[in-house]
Amino acid sequence: MFKKLAIGAAFALALTPAASFAAGGGDQHIEDFAFSFEGPFGTYDQNQLQRGLQIYTEVCAACHGLKQVPIRTLSDEGGVGMDEAQVRAYAAENFTVFDPELDDDREARPTDHFPGSGLESAPDLSLMAKARAGFHGPAGLGINQLFKGIGGPEYIASLLTGYTGKEKEEAGAVLYENTAFPGGWISMAPPLADEQVEFRDGHANDLHHLSEDVTAFLMWTAEPKMMARKQAGFVGVLFLTVLSVMLYLTNKRLWAPVKGKKTS
Ligand code: HEC
Repeated sequence: MFKKLAIGAAFALALTPAASFAAGGGDQHIEDFAFSFEGPFGTYDQNQLQRGLQIYTEVCAACHGLKQVPIRTLSDEGGVGMDEAQVRAYAAENFTVFDPELDDDREARPTDHFPGSGLESAPDLSLMAKARAGFHGPAGLGINQLFKGIGGPEYIASLLTGYTGKEKEEAGAVLYENTAFPGGWISMAPPLADEQVEFRDGHANDLHHLSEDVTAFLMWTAEPKMMARKQAGFVGVLFLTVLSVMLYLTNKRLWAPVKGKKTS
């Protein structure tokens, strides 16, 4: 009985890669980017997060907000890794917030959150990397996601690199063809292009790298405690492994006198 089940399960798993093309994602094309934070031991790359923050600030922030994210978290460990003075300067330089006490706008402080979206039709990006799925099916089973992850970051990076260059006008609005966007036409003009953002250290700034960097940053805004969570999981597994070995050995020792008698 168990053997039959096991063979059936193995068969189903073996079939999934072929089936996923048919059932997953419709006409969406999602590229499987290799991010540093993937896998059980994956971690954020601090330099990449800093580049991503720069791209967000210089490009995306014109339309998109990050209203769930407190600016002070830019100095949190395991994240962007700025020091507190840098965070204060960054907040004051880049954002103004409305202060009800002053009844006026003032420079942002680390205790403020990032502002919300400036453009009404542009969604807030705070949790976007967790709100979208790049990988689907097959047939809604999510087996693809079990192996590749949910694919939120892959979706965002594929979206940013997925413009074909074709445009059309519909009901007075311009739509841009995009191979990752569900339905194929998005109202966001291509936000990134080669060499659009310059980095102080001269890091590669072609469209592909820029897309990956800003996506990594958005993954951090959606899950800033990911590294702590993975570490806790690892410690948990290690603890359970040691416990299992000790229980096994204890069990053997406890039964040794009884079992010893039979082996004659
Ligand atoms: C000129 C304004 C503008 C800029 C700049 C801009 N966006 Fe957008 N973005 C939009 C609008 C409008 C939408 C909604 C598009 C739609 O639903 O058709 C959108 C949607 C999105 C979505 C959601 C797609 C979905 O699945 O609903 C993501 C992700 C996104 N933008 C990322 C970015 C990133 C990253 C940047 C910076 C590199 C950026 N955007 C820059 C206007 C902008």
